[in-house]
Amino acid sequence: MKVLAMMASPRIKGNSDILLDEAIKGAQTAGAVVEKIVLDKLRITPCKEIYHCLKDGTCPLRDDMTGIYDKILATDAIIIATPIFFYTVSAQLMAFISRCQAFWSRKYVLKNLDIPLKRGGFICVGATKGIRLFEGPKLTMKYFFQAINAEYKEELLIRGVDKKGEINDHPEYLTAAYELGKKLVS
Ligand SMILES: Cc1cc2nc3c(=O)[nH]c(=O)nc-3n(C[C@H](O)[C@H](O)[C@H](O)COP(=O)(O)O)c2cc1C
Repeated sequence: MKVLAMMASPRIKGNSDILLDEAIKGAQTAGAVVEKIVLDKLRITPCKEIYHCLKDGTCPLRDDMTGIYDKILATDAIIIATPIFFYTVSAQLMAFISRCQAFWSRKYVLKNLDIPLKRGGFICVGATKGIRLFEGPKLTMKYFFQAINAEYKEELLIRGVDKKGEINDHPEYLTAAYELGKKLVS
């Protein structure tokens, strides 16, 4: 089984990154081949509303997203790990998601049913403990996963973790991330 692991925080070795690495270990233990992508290292322009994708399901923008479309088509599962920024996902992730409008057009406008079904896992970490902290990101993920034809299978939502690497003080969350990766591919 192939897994794409998307790291959406700009902070390398931060909380999302550490959690994602645990999920990757879990998936690998279960036999998956994992490719990790650090979104902040790529040049991905947000959707420009050219609407070319409505014609044939492809995006005419040429940047690092170009190679990712095929990876999404080829993967069996995708794990997204993001910090909460202003009650939503990171800007890096939002740019990537907006470019997946090409898949949305294929599926819902062109009724192209050849986007393989895959599994989706979501890891999200924020500093505060607000009861509604994950409402926005969860809705975004729900519709993103639908667009790329992924079933929203697993989630790990963590409140109250802020400083770089602070997640390491919570071994229970590391275990939960590992289990998420394992369960997603099992
Ligand atoms: C620009 C910015 C906006 C943030 N907005 C929120 C927020 O709305 N709610 C929250 O709980 N934490 C917020 N945070 C805190 C981060 O979610 C938190 O520090 C998280 O652990 C960072 O994860 P990372 O190490 O993976 O980047 C924000 C941090 C930054 C830098």
